[in-house]
Amino acid sequence: MSSNRYIGLMSGTSLDSIDAVLVEFEPKFQLLCTHNHPLPENLRQEILALTQPGDNEIERWAALDLSLADLFAEASLALLAKASVPTHKITAIGSHGQTLRHLPQLGTSLQAGDPNRLAEQTGIAVVADFRRRDLAAQGQGAPLVPAFHQALFHALNEDRVVINIGGMANLTWLPKDLTHTVIGFDTGPGNVLLDAWIQHQRQLKFDANGAWAASGQVQSRLLQQLLSHPYFQRQGPRSTGREVFHLQALLDELEAFSAPIRAEDVQATLTEFTALSIHQALQPLASQAYGVYLCGGGSHNTYLKQRLNFWLQQPIQTTAALGLDPDWVEACAFAWLAERRIQHLSGNLPSVTGAKGPRCLGGIYSA
Ligand SMILES: Nc1ncnc2c1ncn2[C@@H]1O[C@H](COP(=O)(O)OP(=O)(O)OP(=O)(O)O)[C@@H](O)[C@H]1O
Ligand SMILES: [Mg+2]
Repeated sequence: MSSNRYIGLMSGTSLDSIDAVLVEFEPKFQLLCTHNHPLPENLRQEILALTQPGDNEIERWAALDLSLADLFAEASLALLAKASVPTHKITAIGSHGQTLRHLPQLGTSLQAGDPNRLAEQTGIAVVADFRRRDLAAQGQGAPLVPAFHQALFHALNEDRVVINIGGMANLTWLPKDLTHTVIGFDTGPGNVLLDAWIQHQRQLKFDANGAWAASGQVQSRLLQQLLSHPYFQRQGPRSTGREVFHLQALLDELEAFSAPIRAEDVQATLTEFTALSIHQALQPLASQAYGVYLCGGGSHNTYLKQRLNFWLQQPIQTTAALGLDPDWVEACAFAWLAERRIQHLSGNLPSVTGAKGPRCLGGIYSA
């Protein structure tokens, strides 16, 4: 017998690790246990390689699909061991999978981590492949977290924006007036270029607290060049990924810039790029005063938060102020989406993804 507890698994574009959460929804939403599972370096490299065109992709994808399923099973079982909860108490695992390509212009999105194998190895039902039904209904298939943000963070006394700064950054605008529409979209890169540049220059995984960026100067001409990317001219439902914003694209931009620039100035400019693209995306939506709540790894970047505060002119908090630790919001969202699927309820917001209507998202792979 299951007891309305769900596992959420998220492995995002940053390729930092796998986030695993144990949650329950009745009588109210509660985060019961969390576990951060390491992503071995060989798998990280293979994922990175497969996000770009290359040789023998189908067989390499198949091998990765299985290895990631094994890792997701390990992460789920480690979480349950930590929580001292037996597998039969879990209704389902909501597994996002590792995105290898997000191609809304073609109507598809590819995530690896075979849900059949994950169900077989854990003995727990799995809900996966969340994005493609929305894409089939002419949506972007992303972002999917806004429906969860709405369910958890909407307030009648305050307009709110929830900004998730992962590899990409996405926002959810939650108007206090329930007759107004919830809006959400990817604003562009979050940490992905910051990580790519510091890895390329200094072999560090990320710019801790934005200290390196803070030591540089923003190069405004480079900033304008980055902001002239066609993605920032788009309106309405939009989503993006590593296919568009990645190290090689940044190196090409720097070559086109054709002036000497210090490495730390590039880092400062990339941080400004993330902050300013979020600000510009918010401008048409925001009222005079609104609450800003960050989540995702970028919420730990002190310098990025300062720059956001400068542009938004609003106090910046994290979702911790709303009762949910910012590091686990995305994984909780996929547990929530799994619950919606099991209950035969819709998981997308058509006003966000652009889909023709609400849809039940994901396939169920029985225990
Ligand atoms: N102390 C810190 N200072 C600066 N940046 C940090 C810090 N801690 C984490 N980060 C950034 O957060 C990133 C990880 O964020 P997160 O796990 O939310 O992204 P993700 O895995 O891409 O998720 P998703 O794609 O689902 O949003 C790291 O790669 C790093 O750039
Ligand atoms: Mg992550």
